[in-house]
Amino acid sequence: MHPKPANQSRQIKRHHTPREIVHRVRESLTTRVSKMLCAIFLMFLLVLGLIAFILWLSLRPHRPRFHVEEFSVPGLGQATAFENAQISFNVTIRNPNEHIGIYYDSMDGSVYYKDQKIGSNPLLFPFYQEPKNTTVVVDLLSGEALTVNSQRWTEFMNDRAAGMVVFRLQITSIIRFKISRWSSRHHRAHANCEVSVGPDGEILPTSRDKRCPVYFT
Ligand SMILES: *[C@@H]1O[C@H](CO)[C@@H](O)[C@H](O)[C@H]1NC(C)=O
Ligand SMILES: *[C@@H]1O[C@H](CO)[C@@H](O)[C@H](O)[C@H]1NC(C)=O
Repeated sequence: MHPKPANQSRQIKRHHTPREIVHRVRESLTTRVSKMLCAIFLMFLLVLGLIAFILWLSLRPHRPRFHVEEFSVPGLGQATAFENAQISFNVTIRNPNEHIGIYYDSMDGSVYYKDQKIGSNPLLFPFYQEPKNTTVVVDLLSGEALTVNSQRWTEFMNDRAAGMVVFRLQITSIIRFKISRWSSRHHRAHANCEVSVGPDGEILPTSRDKRCPVYFT
């Protein structure tokens, strides 16, 4: 570049030759252009991120909605009824998504009393639920699916005398969301429905058609 001896060049450094000035201006111009390109690129990334976020907001899957419509413990008032104890229920499951289907690969319904499981049954065969579809699940727990001894039945009867017996119906499903051709990984969803039963063994109006909280594990 500058054909000067090395020891001289150090002394001359303060005095810029026109050539050097042109070089500097050029250099600052290129940094400016590259800064601008960088800013444009970042802006582009930001817009892209924003679009992805909006898409995600509108496409994000909503969890299915569970409502208990019916829940019945027949013979609740009779002391000896525990020998043929039965619990029947009717639950609606709604897929609230507009474009996302739900695969239920398995589903189990369990009934709890004071946090102890008293009965359980597999529900529904694996099935696929279309967007916006509501499916009714009906089941009857009896015999081996239900473990109610006389002591527990007495507890039911005591609660009944006080006005109501509180159960918890838990529906655990393994689900996948289907978006167009793609389907998500498996999620374990639990719907926890607290159900109060009146002295006649039927669900109380306060529990009927109440939305059950759903959480994933
Ligand atoms: C389940 O409950 C819904 C709402 O009360 C009712 O329309 C439906 O007929 C019931 N299904 C069965 C099989 O009991
Ligand atoms: C929901 O899907 C089930 C199973 O595919 C079907 O039997 C039922 O008729 C559908 N319900 C509605 C309201 O479309």
